[in-house]
Amino acid sequence: MKMEEGVSRRDLIKTLGVGGLALGLTSLGHGAQTEEKKSSLPKSQIGYKEGAFVLPPLSYAYDALEPHIDAQTMKLHHDKHHAGYVKGANKALKNLADIASGQGDASLVKHWARELAFHGSGHAMHLIFWNNMKPGGSELKGALADALVADFGSIDGFKNLFLGASQSVEGSGWGILGYEHVSGRLVVIQAEKHQDHTVQGISPLLVVDVWEHAYYLKYQNRRGDYIKAFMNVINWDDVANRYAQASRLSVA
Ligand SMILES: [Fe+2]
Repeated sequence: MKMEEGVSRRDLIKTLGVGGLALGLTSLGHGAQTEEKKSSLPKSQIGYKEGAFVLPPLSYAYDALEPHIDAQTMKLHHDKHHAGYVKGANKALKNLADIASGQGDASLVKHWARELAFHGSGHAMHLIFWNNMKPGGSELKGALADALVADFGSIDGFKNLFLGASQSVEGSGWGILGYEHVSGRLVVIQAEKHQDHTVQGISPLLVVDVWEHAYYLKYQNRRGDYIKAFMNVINWDDVANRYAQASRLSVA
């Protein structure tokens, strides 16, 4: 994969961890910038520090997305569920490191690699998810809007596809708008759990969590209503920044 515009692969891997690589992520957006620029980033975009994954605080209050997403769901989702993925990813990292150094049980490498794929991907996806939202949302415009029209026919066409894909995820998972690096176009895909059925070589730009923990307290079984509510709080500026960064990377 070619790295351009001062973005180093080391930076990306440092930011994403192996969980991001398992998803085929190339960028967490702002997190893929240079070290100098990282110092000015909000804490909520830093998910790895001093050799371990960490859970950054949200950049807005738990109740800031009301009435679309309720405070109790946000608090449980961030403080318990996301925290669980961070803990699981770190446990997997440690066990894989022990195996690499000859101290661990080498027969368990498959187990720990799977654990890292699940928890690491869960951590990466939630980092994107929190930053894909902001109170009141923001306007979709510019190069991202042009690309959505070019690749999906219209903005409404994209929204219909994104809603449909997200709503029909089988069981728990994610709806994803991603940048596909081979073709250089935007695609809508699904992921089951956090890591199954994804396409390697795609950078997620906009993700919606459709695990029940993301919506059941307020919306119960009405997943479609939750996704429509999510569309009201999308931070399109964040999505556009991710698009701008992803489109500078190519697979070759
Ligand atoms: Fe979640």
